[in-house]
Amino acid sequence: MTQTTLGEPMAVEMAKQQRQISVAEFFEKNRHLLGFDNPKKALLTTVKEAVDNSLDACEEAGILPEIKVDVFDMEEDRYRVRIEDNGPGIVKKHIPKVFASLLYGSKFHKLQQSRGQQGIGISASVMYAQLTTGRPVKIKSKIGPDEQAYYFELKIDTEKNKPEIVTEETIEWDKDHGLQIELDLEGTYRKGKRSIDEYIKQTSIVNPHVTLIYTNPRSEQLIFTRAAEQLPREPKEIKPHPDGVELGLLTKMLERTNTRTLTGFLQEEFTRVGRGTAEDICENATLRSDRVPSRMKRKHAEQLLKGIQQTDIMNPPTDCISPIGEELLEKGMRKEVNAEFYCTVTRKPEVYRGYPFQIEVGIAYGGEQSKDSTVNVLRYANRVPLLYQKGACAFTQTAGDVNWKTYGLDQSGNNVPRGPATIVVHMASPWVPFTSESKEAIAHYDEILDEVKLAMQQAGRKLQKYTKKKTRIKKEKKKRNMIEQYLPHVAVGLKELLDLTSAEEKEIVEKLEAVLQEDRGELEDIEFDPDANPEYDEEFAKIGREDDESD
Ligand SMILES: Nc1ncnc2c1ncn2[C@@H]1O[C@H](COP(=O)(O)OP(=O)(O)OP(=O)(O)O)[C@@H](O)[C@H]1O
Ligand SMILES: [Mg+2]
Repeated sequence: MTQTTLGEPMAVEMAKQQRQISVAEFFEKNRHLLGFDNPKKALLTTVKEAVDNSLDACEEAGILPEIKVDVFDMEEDRYRVRIEDNGPGIVKKHIPKVFASLLYGSKFHKLQQSRGQQGIGISASVMYAQLTTGRPVKIKSKIGPDEQAYYFELKIDTEKNKPEIVTEETIEWDKDHGLQIELDLEGTYRKGKRSIDEYIKQTSIVNPHVTLIYTNPRSEQLIFTRAAEQLPREPKEIKPHPDGVELGLLTKMLERTNTRTLTGFLQEEFTRVGRGTAEDICENATLRSDRVPSRMKRKHAEQLLKGIQQTDIMNPPTDCISPIGEELLEKGMRKEVNAEFYCTVTRKPEVYRGYPFQIEVGIAYGGEQSKDSTVNVLRYANRVPLLYQKGACAFTQTAGDVNWKTYGLDQSGNNVPRGPATIVVHMASPWVPFTSESKEAIAHYDEILDEVKLAMQQAGRKLQKYTKKKTRIKKEKKKRNMIEQYLPHVAVGLKELLDLTSAEEKEIVEKLEAVLQEDRGELEDIEFDPDANPEYDEEFAKIGREDDESD
């Protein structure tokens, strides 16, 4: 049927339904894409977005972060979330847009390692709060000791994706600089796995330079004091690498550039392209090097892309990545995981789709961890714990692909191993390939999978030395106990058989005991409790460290 009953073409009737959809309206309907699919997750996501922003801001400004997180139970499934940082604050002009319009931020166009990257995190929380309680977000901001502090109450006009200022005033705020955000939203608070408490604890493991003061809805205060006084190395901003560029982006870059020649464009807009490489690319693309980029047609852009693919270009620089480092990662793990052995591995930087990245793995073994459950795999991207979508994440898949049995853990098939251990996996990169906007799982790029596997195997080998030694010590101790038990009987038997005097019998016992002591060697210093008595943790950790050093 191509006509309506009134004789109008159907297309005309259908055209009446066509409308622009604002990005805010889209995400209002698809809130699950941003991590708001259920009340428990919504509460966690809100805290996470605000804390991640505070940490990013403090580090960018060179300030050691001190963050206060308060979650109040307002009853009837409503919660008030208040996060306050000692960061640089936000200038007055930008406050409404940052918090009350989606896709507005300072990080999306910058290729620099940070927790946030999309410009949608905090405004999505504001939108969710508004949707579920109708209340505006409340912001306090101060950018310096001699500056005026501001207070805003904001709502999002979702149809236009624009901020609506409910209140704007100057206030007294007894603080040199910083930002405070307060949101009322519907949620559910629970402790345990994937809770706010867990997120805060996991954050403190890989951010040993941060102090977090957290009060949960049950009015319990948890203080995570910093274990390191230095900030992570500041990651440098980089330009895109030609290997990662796709046709759409290349066309846009050609249209927008101010450069006047193709070689100029390649050198100016990309990293690792000097004059020689730029000329090689033009030659491989059969394009003249003095072509004006903004006048190039689509087919030329395609040619250029092929030229890029055929040219050998040096890997991107790696000073745009700031890993945690083996020492600090171990420090963080020691602070929060009660184990008897710790080891960490920081791999060298690698590249996927033109983006550099670096993988780190840490293992904490034994101690008070349960022997009978699946190993706790803590996943992190740019120092942010990933608590959801475990099954969809490249890290989980790799944890199952490694043969952990060799390293002393139980494993069935390609599953995550079982045993008293925690495995930390961290990816640092100026662009992390998340599987969705809610930033919960890492996409399966081969280069990333390979690196994670190598890092896990490397850490696994360190663990293996420890578990092997531990098993040997356990066996020897058992043997020794047995012999010790029978020694007096052996002596009596010998006395009768060989017709010895009591003095001779005593001498033989002493000799046998001495041999036993010699055999025992290192056992002399280490008492072993098979139930991993924490009293002996330090002794066992010592074995681990010795092994590390001899590596
Ligand atoms: N506590 C804060 N202090 C200073 N600046 C902040 C703070 N919170 C947010 N910002 C600024 O607001 C911008 C928007 O934050 P938002 O969380 O929406 O996006 P993002 O952090 O850039 O990316 P993502 O969507 O991945 O979180 C940030 O890019 C940052 O410039
Ligand atoms: Mg953010």
